[in-house]
Amino acid sequence: MIRLDDVGKAYRRGSHTLWALRGVSLEIPAGEFHVVVGPSGSGKSTLLHLMATLDVPTEGTVWLDGRATAACSDETLTLLRRDRIGLVFQAFNLLPYLTSRENVALPRLLQRLPHRQVRREADEWLDAVGLTARADHWPHELSGGEAQRVAIARALITQPRLLLADEPTGNLDSARGLEILTLLATLAPKSGVTTVLVTHSADAARFGHRTTRLRDGRIDP
Ligand SMILES: Nc1ncnc2c1ncn2[C@@H]1O[C@H](COP(=O)(O)OP(=O)(O)OP(=O)(O)O)[C@@H](O)[C@H]1O
Ligand SMILES: [Mg+2]
Repeated sequence: MIRLDDVGKAYRRGSHTLWALRGVSLEIPAGEFHVVVGPSGSGKSTLLHLMATLDVPTEGTVWLDGRATAACSDETLTLLRRDRIGLVFQAFNLLPYLTSRENVALPRLLQRLPHRQVRREADEWLDAVGLTARADHWPHELSGGEAQRVAIARALITQPRLLLADEPTGNLDSARGLEILTLLATLAPKSGVTTVLVTHSADAARFGHRTTRLRDGRIDP
C-alpha cells in the first residue's frame, strides 16, 4: 500500500540545512494499522505529510498503491487526496459554521454525490462513532473527544484506502485519548483502511499491528 525508499526531507534556513527525516525506508501493507512513535521533533508529522502527498521528499521515493507520488501530476494528487486518503489531526479541524452532520458530509458533497445519499451516509458514520445524538450540534458545542469522533467519521466517509492520523489524542485527556485510539483501532480494520497513526505516546503502540520508532529523523532499529 505505502512504501518509502530511502526517503529524506530537508528544510533549508539560509545556509543551514536541517534534515527532518533521513534514510527512512518503510513498507506498510494494505489493511495494516501502523503506529509511528517518536519524541517531539523526531519527524513524525513530516513523515505523515509525505505520505499524504502534502509535501514532497527531498530525496528518495514515496510509493502509494504502486505509484511514485513524485511522478504524479498535481491533478492526480488532488484526486488521490480527495478520494483515497483520510486525514485526522490533533486540532480536529472541523469547520465551525457546519454542524457535525454537515462536517461529516462535506467530503462526499465535494465528490458531487446526491444529497440524500450523502445525508444517509453521514448519519451512518455518526452512528459508527457513537454520535447520533450530536448530529445537529455545532463544533463549539462538542467536547474534544466528540469533536475528534466527528473528524474520524469525516475522514472515513469517503472509504479511503489510507487513513493518516497525526497525534489524534494530543488535545484530549488520557481517558478520552484511550477512547479515540480504541475507536480507531476498531473502525479502521473493519473498514479495511490502511492506517498510519503518529504519536509521541509510546502507549499507543499496543493499538497497532506494527510499530516504527523515529528518533532524530531516522528509524530507530
Ligand atoms: N517547515 C519547516 N521548516 C523548518 N523546519 C521544520 C519545518 N517543519 C518541521 N521542521 C523541523 O523538522 C523537525 C521535525 O519536525 P516534525 O514536525 O516532523 O516533528 P514531530 O515529530 O511531528 O514533532 P511533534 O511531536 O512536536 O509534533 C523538527 O526539528 C522541526 O523543527
Ligand atoms: Mg508533529
